[in-house]
Amino acid sequence: MAEVLVTRRLVDDAMAALDCEYDLWEGPPTAIPRGEFLRRAKGKDGLLTLLTEKVDAELLDAAGPQLRVVANYAVGVDNIDIPECTRRGILVANTPDVLTEATADIAWALILSCVRRIGEGDRLLRSRTEWIWDPRMLLGQELYGRTIGIVGCGRIGQATARRAVGFGMRVIYHNSRPLPDEIAGPLGAELRTFDELVAESDVISIHCPLTPATRHLFNASVFARMKPSAVLVNTSRGPVVDEKALAEAVRAGEIFGAGLDVFEREPAVEEALLDLDGVTIVPHLGSATIQTRTAMGLLAVENLQAGLRGERPRALLNPEAL
Ligand code: GLV
Ligand code: GLV
Repeated sequence: MAEVLVTRRLVDDAMAALDCEYDLWEGPPTAIPRGEFLRRAKGKDGLLTLLTEKVDAELLDAAGPQLRVVANYAVGVDNIDIPECTRRGILVANTPDVLTEATADIAWALILSCVRRIGEGDRLLRSRTEWIWDPRMLLGQELYGRTIGIVGCGRIGQATARRAVGFGMRVIYHNSRPLPDEIAGPLGAELRTFDELVAESDVISIHCPLTPATRHLFNASVFARMKPSAVLVNTSRGPVVDEKALAEAVRAGEIFGAGLDVFEREPAVEEALLDLDGVTIVPHLGSATIQTRTAMGLLAVENLQAGLRGERPRALLNPEAL
């Protein structure tokens, strides 16, 4: 019987769907420690990993040649060395599509919190500070008629853009390739260079994967070219944004605010961000709905079990490994 390692307990429906022997790591609220991961991967036929686990040559060596499949419980796969897996004939699968709408919702939750200063208002009341309705209190930014710039216009970027249409916003995007007309048309979405998008947007929402080319794509020089009334929201991967430079840009009033679901040195949060009122921060909740986490769990388990049976997982990323 196939043996697998599951690096964290998933929702009950997904655990119940696992019909193989599994070794489950359930530790304190930290990722599985590296040494533990290397040790427990040994001899396994499949791994069900989270975005917190680095799957590289060292781990694959530690696992051994019987390893057939790595099912990542995430759409982002910057934690996995896919070429190395492919070279060894190991299948890699992820959980796309099922988390698209939930993640677009979190991007909008952050956009709205930043432009309408929801976090600040909430903290004001909790601090029991005296207040009275005031024509000048906590003034934010209007969304209607303004421009959202989507950086990385894949599935999640497009879902975020669809919501923008409902808010009466104009949509511009930057992407590795232009969207087909049938997708761009209904959104009225126009392609821009990165620099054009930065200068034109009132809201920028990041949806690109983390790659060497996107690491610190948003840095001090970019913040200096954004509108002072603009907000930046990141629901992709933390290192796409230079967090220290972002904190400085918000503090200096170079931009209006920022909303972050992901962090450069996750789970650590840049200290300078914690005291800034213009920043809304949540702990990587993009896919965290009951419905989506159930669908992700079922898809990850399905991917894992297909790979163990020698079949093609539904969300296979490296068909060359088959
Ligand atoms: C979460 O961040 C994911 O990539 O699914
Ligand atoms: C993620 O699935 C994306 O393509 O945006």
